Amino acid sequence: MPRRLFVVGVGPGSPLYVTEAAKDAIRKSKYVVGYKYTLATIESVLDRSKQQVLEVTMGSQDEVYQDVYGRMKDDEYCTVPFTGDVNFSESEVVDRLLEIFGDDNVLIIPGISSIQVAAAKSRVPTDKALIVTFHVTGDIEQKKKDLLEAVKSGRSVILLPRPWPRDLSKHFMQSDIAKFLKASGMDTQKLKVWVFEHLTTDKETTFRGIVSDLEGREFSDLSAMVIDQVKRQTYLEF
Ligand SMILES: C[S@@+](CC[C@H](N)C(=O)[O-])C[C@H]1O[C@@H](n2cnc3c(N)ncnc32)[C@H](O)[C@@H]1O
Repeated sequence: MPRRLFVVGVGPGSPLYVTEAAKDAIRKSKYVVGYKYTLATIESVLDRSKQQVLEVTMGSQDEVYQDVYGRMKDDEYCTVPFTGDVNFSESEVVDRLLEIFGDDNVLIIPGISSIQVAAAKSRVPTDKALIVTFHVTGDIEQKKKDLLEAVKSGRSVILLPRPWPRDLSKHFMQSDIAKFLKASGMDTQKLKVWVFEHLTTDKETTFRGIVSDLEGREFSDLSAMVIDQVKRQTYLEF
């Protein structure tokens, strides 16, 4: 059997949000390769005496993935854990892993996204909202247009902002989003908003207000934002 890779979502931070399917994959793996925050989320599942646990950064990851792939024997497994759901806002890395390991050797195991937890806390269902991530390295102009279109048409939006402290022109955090919406003609004093930081961890915070409040306000990189235009509608109305 070829070298197998599990690409696993491990939830937004609390071990309580790590699924049994994710735990199974991790326990089966000789190698576990991940970012510091993600590895901390699954620390209680790891057995460092038997597994090789490798911490990577954006800069070092490619070399490590290739090195592990080269070292793995047939029948060995590797897990690359991702924060939240691996199918949301992770494709730049997942696509590279598919390239290195080959599609047929990769099993993708979904997790609970920070977006889902933000939806639950704000009571804005994901099916009534535009779900968008700005946390990408690629161009975000089309995403900004989609955001504006959604807000204009009265939809809610659940989004991940883009922290880019080394190049502020690429930064698209809550304050930038508020200014962008105002400059695009939206009445940001009438738009309800939630910002959640450090979801599911003991540092979790909730900000609730209007979009204009966000101007000049700083939030953690680890934050999700909800523009709440939801209209509740029960089955009694149909
Ligand atoms: C590369 S994206 C990964 C998203 C992840 N795959 C998910 O489904 O939540 C990283 C961003 O996810 C958001 N995020 C991840 N964990 C979070 C948490 N515990 N609380 C708030 N936002 C979180 C933040 O916006 C963070 O900058």
